[in-house]
Amino acid sequence: MASDQPTGTSVDTRPRIHLEGVAKSFNGRTVVDVEQLTLGDHPIEGLIGPNGAGKTTLMRLIMHSASLDRGTVTFYPNGPDSEPVTLSETPPHRMAHLGVVKSNQVIMDFDKLTVLDSLLLAAASTDHERGYRLFNEDEVYGGARNEIDWYLDRFDFEDPLGHARSAGEKKLLDIIRCLLLRPRLLLLDEPTAGLPDEIRDRLTEVLKEKCEQTGMSVIVVEHDLSVIWTLSHFVHFMAEGSVILQGDPEWIRQHDTVIEKYLGSEHVGD
Ligand SMILES: Nc1ncnc2c1ncn2[C@@H]1O[C@H](COP(=O)(O)OP(=O)(O)O)[C@@H](O)[C@H]1O
Ligand SMILES: [Mg+2]
Repeated sequence: MASDQPTGTSVDTRPRIHLEGVAKSFNGRTVVDVEQLTLGDHPIEGLIGPNGAGKTTLMRLIMHSASLDRGTVTFYPNGPDSEPVTLSETPPHRMAHLGVVKSNQVIMDFDKLTVLDSLLLAAASTDHERGYRLFNEDEVYGGARNEIDWYLDRFDFEDPLGHARSAGEKKLLDIIRCLLLRPRLLLLDEPTAGLPDEIRDRLTEVLKEKCEQTGMSVIVVEHDLSVIWTLSHFVHFMAEGSVILQGDPEWIRQHDTVIEKYLGSEHVGD
């Protein structure tokens, strides 16, 4: 859907994802049914809706980690006029090369890798041009160390040279790994769930900063709506498998349908 909110000169080269006639059923029950949807017209977009609305499934269909029953998912790497790539024909492991990354997508074993090693590994895997020629570790890791140290400083991991200590640290590590992959379009599925408030706020700031610095776009599913209202430039509201409203966060927040199906009137002034 075209946006009426200009976001600056970069708007036409932002990556977009377009879904056309996309449906998915589990056990004969339709859980996603989206006729037309464009994600990425704005730097940060929220995808909200009640539990079971189909948000996670929609993200999995985009990442091709769940198969479509029908429809197509197309990626426009450099804006709506760029050469499209059919994501539903792209194996999940190729997604990061296209710049499409989702949190939880990176396979890792936090119990075997230290926080630092896990981040170094993510940084090394971005080095597409050199492929897997890891002859000189310093060369590969050297550039990444500053960036990694920046994240480690920012988030105060309890023991960066040891293992992630809490569920929150593991979650954060997953997101930082995604950021180190230098995504063009990052999908986050409930990134702040389980994080202490202070870390949640820091993560929100970091996401905003990274979007501004790198031109990365973010699509974020989140139940903590304070995150959505703080971060998003645009919000898609999903219920019963379909995106039924799209618009400015303030408009979505006060919309009768959103209040009735999701927020309840007591959340309107939060
Ligand atoms: N792998 C699966 N097998 C069966 N049902 C599923 C599966 N994944 C999701 N569902 C169902 O699909 C519906 C949508 O789920 P989900 O996409 O996780 O919603 P949301 O993320 O919006 O809470 C839910 O009713 C859920 O139980
Ligand atoms: Mg979900």
